[in-house]
Amino acid sequence: MNNSLEQAQQISASIDITGRKMEFDFEPGDIPRYWYGNNAFKSTFMNALSCLFPEGERMFMDAVRDNQQCVTDPQLLQQIKGFIKQEAIHGHEHAQYNDFLKRWQYPIDKIMNFEKKEKVWLKKWLSPARRLAMTCALEHFTAIMAHQVLTNPDFTEGMHPQFKEMWRWHAIEETEHKAVAYDVYQQAVGSYWLRIYTMLVVTVMFCFRTSLFQAIFLWKDGQLFNPKVWWHGVKFYFLKPGLVRNIWSDYLDYFRRDFHPWMHDNRELLQQWEAEGQKYKAV
Ligand SMILES: [Fe+2]
Ligand SMILES: [Fe+2]
Repeated sequence: MNNSLEQAQQISASIDITGRKMEFDFEPGDIPRYWYGNNAFKSTFMNALSCLFPEGERMFMDAVRDNQQCVTDPQLLQQIKGFIKQEAIHGHEHAQYNDFLKRWQYPIDKIMNFEKKEKVWLKKWLSPARRLAMTCALEHFTAIMAHQVLTNPDFTEGMHPQFKEMWRWHAIEETEHKAVAYDVYQQAVGSYWLRIYTMLVVTVMFCFRTSLFQAIFLWKDGQLFNPKVWWHGVKFYFLKPGLVRNIWSDYLDYFRRDFHPWMHDNRELLQQWEAEGQKYKAV
């Protein structure tokens, strides 16, 4: 956390959010089942995350749309448009990624149906304010994990280049729009207690859901009870790259009363990524 709340709000207001249609040369032919360092744990972990995205991101778009009538600031309204474009494209790309996983006999259709039903249930039973609080919590998770993807070379080491390119692009856009849902929440809802209570619930749900989908994939591969795979899990979370160890303190920042996502200023990552000369069509 390197900025005050005031500085963070100023940064947030200055961010332009562009929808980018990427020109991925996605050639699935040569991608191995364990595309991430030939490691079953890491590959199935990322695959499980990918399965959360298409419906999850639709839920985020709905939650922001359902609260935007409280927003009058034209810059934030513009950012909402960019946020919706970005999440729509992410959902589309991850749906293709998930379809690709079917080649390994993973029950993707069943998982997607389950996710769809849950989204309908959430929309029916939870108020727009609660769904927006969920969105803010999950956007915090995606932002702090995206920071790892973009800054921790141990995290991306061994990824198949095509998947790596896709995950880096998603991480960049998650960084770029990390405060949009949060800024809408502050204007439309504002409750600190709803925000942190929801974060606690979402943390349990998110960890449970990711682990469940990952366990299904490992079960299908006959690897669920392989001690080596479990050891790779411990290493992944706590040693190298040490995902949990590295994101823990960023995660806790969310519980501060004066938290804002741009208190953690990592705009230089956006500039670096653009400077690499990425090919995309702005939409
Ligand atoms: Fe996204
Ligand atoms: Fe997002």
